[in-house]
Amino acid sequence: MDPIEIFKDKTVLITGGTGSFGRVLAKKLLESDLCKKVIIFSRDEWKQWEMRQSDPIFNHSKIRYFLGDIRDKSRLERAFNEVHYIVHAAALKQVPAAEYNPTEFVKTNVIGAMNIIDAAIECGVQKIIALSTDKAVNPVNLYGATKLCSDKIFVAGNVYVGARGFPKFGIVRYGNVLDSRGSIIPFWRKMIQDGAKALPITDPLMTRFWITLDHAVNFVIESFSHLNGGEIFIPKIPSMKIVDLAEALAPGLPHSIIGIREGEKLHELLFSQEDSRHTLEFDNYYVVIPEIYSANPELLKKFMVGREGKMATKNFAYTSDSNKHWLSIPKLRELVT
Ligand SMILES: NC(=O)c1ccc[n+]([C@@H]2O[C@H](COP(=O)([O-])OP(=O)(O)OC[C@H]3O[C@@H](n4cnc5c(N)ncnc54)[C@H](OP(=O)(O)O)[C@@H]3O)[C@@H](O)[C@H]2O)c1
Repeated sequence: MDPIEIFKDKTVLITGGTGSFGRVLAKKLLESDLCKKVIIFSRDEWKQWEMRQSDPIFNHSKIRYFLGDIRDKSRLERAFNEVHYIVHAAALKQVPAAEYNPTEFVKTNVIGAMNIIDAAIECGVQKIIALSTDKAVNPVNLYGATKLCSDKIFVAGNVYVGARGFPKFGIVRYGNVLDSRGSIIPFWRKMIQDGAKALPITDPLMTRFWITLDHAVNFVIESFSHLNGGEIFIPKIPSMKIVDLAEALAPGLPHSIIGIREGEKLHELLFSQEDSRHTLEFDNYYVVIPEIYSANPELLKKFMVGREGKMATKNFAYTSDSNKHWLSIPKLRELVT
């Protein structure tokens, strides 16, 4: 069965539906024409208007635009009425902005997550997947710390649902999205267009995980059918060196080393050595499962029914510098040009 079939006749709401991820997911759902309705939930009327103008598919008879803030629980309850599935993609996500406006990030990324859990339970939503980031693992910046809180709140949400057994709350976690809003590629592209004499590089050794929006969206769609409650789904994705990305975008252009910025890591981490004790490995992805399962053989056996994963290698940490899969400069060039 095509994984997207799980959305057949379902009403799907996307928080942050006007963002980079939300638009690609909404387009895919509308093109398949399987859903009953696709609801875009976000704050800014202008972004919703601009989304409608950007592609005829965003005027589909099944799409609805809902203005609201995830900080406002009563608005979420109104929006979640008769919704079956939710993808929670709304977030504040700029690392430097988080350092200077911590309370704003807590309100959106942490309190917003709490509101979504409460409203989803209240409204009888069936399944919800929240998007997470590598920055949430052993976080060193406020953005990552708020996403870690959000992840924990989502995992814990499963114990509040009681005998009814739903909503099922899960998480998809991945690294940098190629070319998303506010990412390094549009920033460097603009510098190159403006005739920069050198590209700023934080550290020549820096590595990052990399995923395309299409891959991220397909992975979230697939994860809906695996979701049992409490899992963190992590795709196996390649790494790249930041200097290779610069070379792919502007061959031969010199680099100016500016040093690692506040709240940045040299390398990123999708799950840690400690997480590996309760992580399952599949062909194309990992699943961090709640610790209660790995600590209880009976529960683990029940959880594993219908799954073919094996426990991840003991003490393995999924890091961007020790990754086995790398994007070469020619491959990066193909992806960014
Ligand atoms: N981009 C990446 O590299 C990356 C990597 C890993 C994980 N992620 C995660 O993926 C998710 C989506 O990222 P993205 O790149 O699509 O972000 P994006 O392009 O910045 O979009 C964010 C969306 O959230 C909405 N939003 C922000 N605050 C809101 C609030 N308080 N209430 C309702 N809506 C709100 C925004 O619309 P309004 O401003 O109109 O409200 C916008 O639609 C985020 O959770 C992010 O942490 C992103």
